[in-house]
Amino acid sequence: MKVALTGIKPTGILHIGNYFGAIRPALRLAEQYDARYFIADYHALNTVKDGSELRRAITGIAAGWLAAGLDPERVVFYRQSSVPETFELATILSAFTPKGLMNRAHAYKAAVQQNTEKGEDGDAGINMGLFTYPVLMAADILLFDADFVPVGRDQTQHVEMAQDIAGAINYNYKKELLKIPAAAVQEDVAVVPGLDGRKMSKSYGNTIPLFSTESVLRKHIMRIVTNSQGVDEPKDPDNSQIFTLYKLFADSGEADSLAARYRGGGMGWGEAKEELFRVANRELSPLRERYNALIAEPERLDGILASGAEKARTIASRTVKRLRKAIGIDF
Ligand code: TRP
Repeated sequence: MKVALTGIKPTGILHIGNYFGAIRPALRLAEQYDARYFIADYHALNTVKDGSELRRAITGIAAGWLAAGLDPERVVFYRQSSVPETFELATILSAFTPKGLMNRAHAYKAAVQQNTEKGEDGDAGINMGLFTYPVLMAADILLFDADFVPVGRDQTQHVEMAQDIAGAINYNYKKELLKIPAAAVQEDVAVVPGLDGRKMSKSYGNTIPLFSTESVLRKHIMRIVTNSQGVDEPKDPDNSQIFTLYKLFADSGEADSLAARYRGGGMGWGEAKEELFRVANRELSPLRERYNALIAEPERLDGILASGAEKARTIASRTVKRLRKAIGIDF
């Protein structure tokens, strides 16, 4: 079976955009592939420098994916930090990574440009973790012989860099030591609108949290921006982020009948929001319960991640051994 691998950076709290845009598609992929999904905690360290904040984010993301249906019996699910082979491989890869390749990374270049625009030194506030981010990410991927890396479009360059680095090593030792991975950008993934109608994103501050209490969920939905159409006016469902969100949670019969009510007039935005809250809460209630149960039982969560790490290390240690042998450091 082909291997699909992806990393989840633990920054911030999960929102509905993550659920429909990343979690659900990844869980669907896990039905067809040998899936290896991990919490990229050392990647988050580059930006999150508060220990309790990082700890909370790691726990929240892990519990969130499990609550959303990730089956740890079928997906190898682990923390990156629990697989120290990652960091050994990253050191090996560094020796084969041209510095110029890192200079060309979009994320690094964007950070430099921002500095320059502000009239600051180009490298102000940029740490080596950010600069060598693509090497660590290549190690994550190459360690597990990944065939596919499901990522958002913003990450495809990183996967291409992993291909380049693996290629350089295979070429140097005249041997297929590392599998060349392919980026898998899922085209059919829903774009989830946020409260203001733009794409739901932490950086826009327009998110609806995935695991809030019922009343916080409701409050967020009530804050969705609408136009000034009155209750009686017919409304266009296809131009309403309330309806777009509703469709994600509702079955097609429900969506058709709500669309008809929009078009017929007589339904105000308040009522449309109530309908959205009803279907969203219906889907999210069981997730919320599982999430809260996992957060309340940290030993259980740790146990799940530890058993994932054990499986991961079995695979990872084989790769590192293979590399050590080839490079001549196998004492
Ligand atoms: N860089 C990815 C992101 O920011 C997270 C990540 C780290 C990752 N390592 C990975 C994704 C390996 C895919 C494969 O979203």
